Order: sequence, then C-alpha cells, then structure tokens
Amino acid sequence: MPLEHSRIRTFEDYQDAYRRSVENPEQFWADVAEPFTWRRKWTSVMKADLVGGHNEWYGGAKLNITENCLDRHLAARGNKLALIWEPNDPKTRQIRYTYRELHQQVCQFANVLLNNGVEKGDRVCLYMPMIPQLAIAVLACARIGAVHSVIFAGFSSTAIADRVNDAQASVVLTSDGLNRGPKQIPVKRVVDEALEHCPSVRRVIVVEHLGWPVHMQEGRDVWYHEEALEAAKTCPAEEMDAEDMLFILYTSGSTGKPKGVVHTTAGYMVWADYTFRNVFQVEENDIYWCTADVGWVTGHTYLLYGPLLNGATTLMFEGVPTYPDAGRFWEVIDKHGVTVFYTAPTAIRSLMATPLDNVLSYSLDSLRILGSVGEPINEEAWHWYHTHVGKERCPVIDTWWQTETGGVMISALAGVSPTRPAHAGQPLPGVQPVLLTQEGQEIEGNDQEGYLAIKAPWPGIIRTTYGDHERTRQTYFGPYPGYYFTGDGARRDENGLYRIIGRVDDVINVSGHRFGTAEIENAINQNANVVESAVVGYPHDVKGQGIYAFVICREGACNTAADKPHVEASIIETVVAEIGKIAKPDKIQLVSGLPKTRSGKIMRRILRKVAEGETGNIGDVTTLLDPAVVEEIINGRK
Ligand code: PRX
Repeated sequence: MPLEHSRIRTFEDYQDAYRRSVENPEQFWADVAEPFTWRRKWTSVMKADLVGGHNEWYGGAKLNITENCLDRHLAARGNKLALIWEPNDPKTRQIRYTYRELHQQVCQFANVLLNNGVEKGDRVCLYMPMIPQLAIAVLACARIGAVHSVIFAGFSSTAIADRVNDAQASVVLTSDGLNRGPKQIPVKRVVDEALEHCPSVRRVIVVEHLGWPVHMQEGRDVWYHEEALEAAKTCPAEEMDAEDMLFILYTSGSTGKPKGVVHTTAGYMVWADYTFRNVFQVEENDIYWCTADVGWVTGHTYLLYGPLLNGATTLMFEGVPTYPDAGRFWEVIDKHGVTVFYTAPTAIRSLMATPLDNVLSYSLDSLRILGSVGEPINEEAWHWYHTHVGKERCPVIDTWWQTETGGVMISALAGVSPTRPAHAGQPLPGVQPVLLTQEGQEIEGNDQEGYLAIKAPWPGIIRTTYGDHERTRQTYFGPYPGYYFTGDGARRDENGLYRIIGRVDDVINVSGHRFGTAEIENAINQNANVVESAVVGYPHDVKGQGIYAFVICREGACNTAADKPHVEASIIETVVAEIGKIAKPDKIQLVSGLPKTRSGKIMRRILRKVAEGETGNIGDVTTLLDPAVVEEIINGRK
C-alpha cells in the first residue's frame, strides 16, 4: 500500500532513515522509489552536480506521473474520494470525485488537449480559478506529456504575457470568470489582453464557470464543454523519461524578471510522495486540506501531486478565509471532517485579528494535524493556531521549503519529531542543511546562525530555469559552489532545530508570496511620473512583510501636497497593471533623492532601517554621495 511504504512512524524510524539517506543515498532513494508504477526502471539513481546545477534522478527510467496519481489506485481505491471541491459560496454545490471519476475526467481533458493539437513537450499555461477543472487540467497535461505552467489567477495581463512568452506556450487554459469572496473577476478578459502580446499562442480553451458571456476569438478560442462532447474518457498515458519536464512555475528572484523554475518527472514525483506521507503522517481515512492556490508550488505539491500519489482525499477550496465571514475555514473543516489542515501564517494572522468567536463557535473535533508554510510563523500566531484551532491536541508543523526544492525540506514530522514554536525543526531524510558564513565557511555546532545552504542533492531539486540554465547555476550554485544556496538565513538552536529567519537577498515575502525588490521597482518605474524608485520590505502585522517604496518623481509631477495622493494612486495602479494586486506597495514615500554611494549604488540598508522605523540607528552615512538626503527621508517617513 502506498501509504505504508518507506513510512516513518517513530523518532527512531526518522533517525534511522536519515542516517541511511546520508550514508547511502542511492540505495535509500532506490528503495523509496520501488513501489511506483514504472514503465521501465532507472539505470542510475542520481547524478549530483552542485557546481553546474546539472542534477539528475532516476536516469533511464520511463513513467507517467498520472499513472501513479490515478491508475495505480483504481483497483484498491477506485471508489475512494480523491477530490472534494468546496465552492466560494457555501450555499452552492460541492463537487466530489472518486479516484475512478477523477481518472475519467483527466482522461477526457487530456483528449481535448490532444484533439486541439497539444503534443508532448508543448508548454500549456493555465490561468484559472480554484475549480476542479484546474486540478484536472494540470493532470491532463501531465497525462499527455505537455508541460504545465500555472499562473496564479491574481496576476495582471502584463505578468501573464511575460510568463506565456518566456515559456513560448502554444495553448492557454482559462475560464470565463472567477469568484474571490464577494468579488467576481473576468478572467478571460485579462487573458485576452495578455494574448495581444503573445504570438506563440494558437489555442485558448475556456472552461465555463460563472456562465458569463465572453468574447471568443474565431479560430483561436474554444469552449471546453463543447470540446469535451467528443472526447473519450479513456486516454493512454504518454511514456515520459525520468528527466522530461513536468512543469514550469514562475517565481521571483532578486533580479527583475521572474524565472521559470523547472521540475522534471521522476524525482519530483518521488519527493512529493515521500514528503507528503511522512511530514503529514497521513492515514487512509484522512480528509486533507491544503489552502494554497494551485498557482503556487504548495498547491502543486501538497494539494495535488503529493496527496494523489498517496491515494489520499484532498480538498480544494475556491474561496477566501473571510467570506462570507471570518469563520469560513473552520466551517469548511467541520463540514467536511477535515483531519489534516495546511495553511499559511498570513491567513492565521488575518483571522487572529477577528473576534475569537469566529473560531470558537466551531467544534474542529476532526482535526489531528496542523501545518504552516510559506513564511516564518511568529510565536503569537503559532500559539493561537495551536490553542484555538488545534485545541492543544494537534501537532503544529512548520514546513520550510521553496518553489525550487519541489517539496518540504525542513520540518517536524507530525507527532513524530520535536516541535518548537516558530522553528521548522529538523531536515527530512535526504536533506543535508548547513549554515555558512558570508565567505562560505560551514559553521559547526548548535546555537549558531548563518546562510542556509544544502550540501547534497535531493530528488526534488530544481533542474533548471526555463531557457536559461546559467541563471540557475548563478543563483543557486554560483554563490557557494558545491552547495545549493537557499537565499534564506537561519538559526540552528541548541538542540539542532532550524529556525528560518528570512531572506538574505533582495526578495520580499509578502503573505507568503515572493517578490524581488527589482521586480517591483521595474513596475513602479513604468509610471510616467517616476524617475527612480527603491523598494524594501518592512515588518507587517498580517502580511509578514509589507512593501515600502521610496520614489523620486519627475520634475513637475508632484509640485504641491495636493498632487501627492494622485501620484501615489497612479503608482499603485501601475504596479497592479504590471504585476497584480498582490504586489501593491503598502507605503509609498515620495523623496527628492535616494541614499547612494559615490559609485551610484543605493544603500538599501538605510532604507530598510527607515522602513522598519529604526531611524535612531541608521549607521554610518559618511560614504554617501549626499548624506543630507537621509535626513529628508527620515523626516518624511510614513
Ligand atoms: O524565505 C523562505 C520562505 O519562503 C521562501 C520560498 O518561497 P516560495 O518559493 O514562494 O515557496 C513558498 C512555499 C514553499 C523561502 O525561501 N518560507 C517558506 N516556508 C517557510 C519560509 N520561511 C520560514 N518558515 C517557513 N516555514
């Protein structure tokens, strides 16, 4: 049974598995991979390269991940629920698919893709609401060997166009509209705007969701439900190489342009499966709910692939935590008997800020395990989650990982290994974290802090950045050759538990979403009023980090105090148009200059201090070209 294989049940099991994974990784990962459905077994388990970043797993193997997510469960779990869908509006219809039904749905969608000319290796971009067809479409791509690239449906048309063009996608999947709490958003219209700039796209398949009329471009756009009429519910799975691309997922880095993180088939599959089972300690009858959107990596690995590979029941939620009221998460948990719940600190913090009755009026008796992901969880949020949601009986696991790692890297295994508030804990088997000094020396011993790096490859490691391997090499392997560099700082406590402190590069984590400061600055600089800008993060009660933008305006753009709100609003509008609402600056300060060194480099350290309100402790400003500018910035602080 998939749930029992390479299963860690006790702390001794964990220690034993960890030791084996370090002493003989090839044997360890060969054993873990044994029970999958392989069309052909691998000839080599791993090829490690933490210098050039050419890592490979299960070389020579042939498989299809959907046979492992679906087909192999049909005999024993055909009638078990695979997917439960909870709509935005609690009064409307839920959808439930058994493994057999989901298999049929995926096959049917796969046939629609095939009938529309999608071939193995083609890139398909998805810009869709959190509806079952999104899950089905992702799996349908994998079924026929097309590479899926899901774009979170909150990104703007410009951001969509950037991603579609980078991936050179030939097909886009979307819907007429989407529900987000009380709002409805015309998704197809956003896609239409984007595609004006995307010559590679020849077909758009539209899923009907809200029943809205949309413009269908002759020769390019088709309705899914019409295409499905002629599509069979069986579809043989394409045979893939272990290292064939499974998906591209765009994420921000410290430079301006989002990068397409590439994961391949076999290693990602093994990693998603193994980490899901052991981190969440899932049992056959669990109802598991990950609140992440499929547009982010958490939705890929822990809403879809991990649970389905394990034959688990996964819940997908269309809405938001505060609609129709701030008790919605808890209502959904009681309604469906959710046993394992995985969400983000930002959601917890936003719900903590509402009256406690919102949570106390639900029983939450079904829950047994709580998880957190995406950003550091502060102690207050950890305790609130543990006390009021978990009723002090559910372990809270704080899972640290990244889009690039494919799955969880550092976390307690629920109920098995020790937890400490605000600490992710110990590494998973196969993960060898180290703390480095800035110069790249390993820091030995406990009670230490440094740059977090990983010194051996694991099956889910990033394979490349789409179309630009050099970027992968430079970003992850260049800083400290021989290590995968995470970009995070961490502390190892006296017992060896890791606490993630935050990014050490120019990446801001807003509500668990990554943005490069350069990416937001590029967007702001598109505004006609703007000459230059500098963006930094600052502590934010709900979002974890907020976005603080210092902006120099063009002469004449902002002459009077009355101009300011207009200029600021127009800057926000530009960011929303360039990236999306999720990247909206929380604070904009118009300044006449930025603190620059004589060589023209912006001293972000100073801006960060101002944004954090630590203006009494700015540090040395003597190397600045114009130290007076600092005084002005401090005085104008928002
Ligand atoms: O800074 C870390 C933070 O989120 C970054 C990865 O972001 P992303 O690729 O979008 O993936 C998010 C979901 C896996 C990391 O570099 N991060 C993620 N999880 C945690 C975290 N920071 C602290 N604690 C966590 N549990």
